Amino acid sequence: MINGYTRTCGLLGNPVEHTMSPAIHNFLAEKTGCNLAYLPFRVEEGCLEDAVKGAFALNVLGLNVTVPYKSQVLPLLQETDPLAEAIGAVNTLVRTEKGFKGYNTDMPGLSRAFYSDGVKIEGEKVLILGAGGVARAVAVLLAKEKAGEIILLNRTVEKARRIAEEVNGMCGRELVKPLPLKDWETLPEERTYLAIQTTDVGMFPGTERAVIEEEGFYRRIHTAYDLIFNPLETRFMKLAKEAGGRAYNGLKMLVYQGIIAYELWTDRPIEEKLAGQVYDTVLKQMECGG
Ligand code: ATR
Repeated sequence: MINGYTRTCGLLGNPVEHTMSPAIHNFLAEKTGCNLAYLPFRVEEGCLEDAVKGAFALNVLGLNVTVPYKSQVLPLLQETDPLAEAIGAVNTLVRTEKGFKGYNTDMPGLSRAFYSDGVKIEGEKVLILGAGGVARAVAVLLAKEKAGEIILLNRTVEKARRIAEEVNGMCGRELVKPLPLKDWETLPEERTYLAIQTTDVGMFPGTERAVIEEEGFYRRIHTAYDLIFNPLETRFMKLAKEAGGRAYNGLKMLVYQGIIAYELWTDRPIEEKLAGQVYDTVLKQMECGG
């Protein structure tokens, strides 16, 4: 029940209409008996600063930040967590005395999803498909979690090169190597790699596409991890399974990034059993078309 004690959280972004975050956080509030309501706030271009200041003035407890504001929000924060700083993107704001502190829960969310799916990172040889903001964040996470080798495969190799230089600079060794997407055939032919798909190729409504179509590529990977969750099985995942590998979508990452944000706002840990229930709720909502 909403009353005078209800704390408010919400999502800043544009568009926000298809978000799953209200389903995640309002479910968690109900299950943990927390008097908290979560709402979507569409923020028009040029209004982000007003939105952040306004939310603080309105005693908002916490916010998520989504496209297109994850980097733009950085200069508006009182403080930024070091991981979010290294990634260069913030998706969660937590109220402090003088302003909001920014965190990135997307990458810790991905890390928890890997753990939950039994996907190992330490010492692994990993391919990252794409070289946008998400690929960069994934490379930072993998470096932190001691991946053995990271190859950034991208159509525009220059972008992969830039990320490789930055991340190698951060970790002080030649961990990340750029490779043009079309040169995947130069990779060893054994089933060697975990492949993480960070582009939006294959996302609804373009579901008939995968960033690489050739079977030879999929025979080189043992695990395909697509960060897309709509559709629940992408063409990338299907091709990987057909070639004999395992495949996962990005729904667990979505759920865990929300759970970690909720833990930051309320200071209470969410146990795995409840995390599973959140997953089932989001899955059901997706299967019903949102
Ligand atoms: P995000 O911040 O979500 O990572 P982005 O910065 O726009 O998004 O990056 C999108 C990534 O998807 C890029 O690596 C892009 O490749 P280019 O750098 O060559 O543009 C990749 N991408 C998008 N459409 C693609 C396609 N049809 N084939 C291959 N890669 C594609």
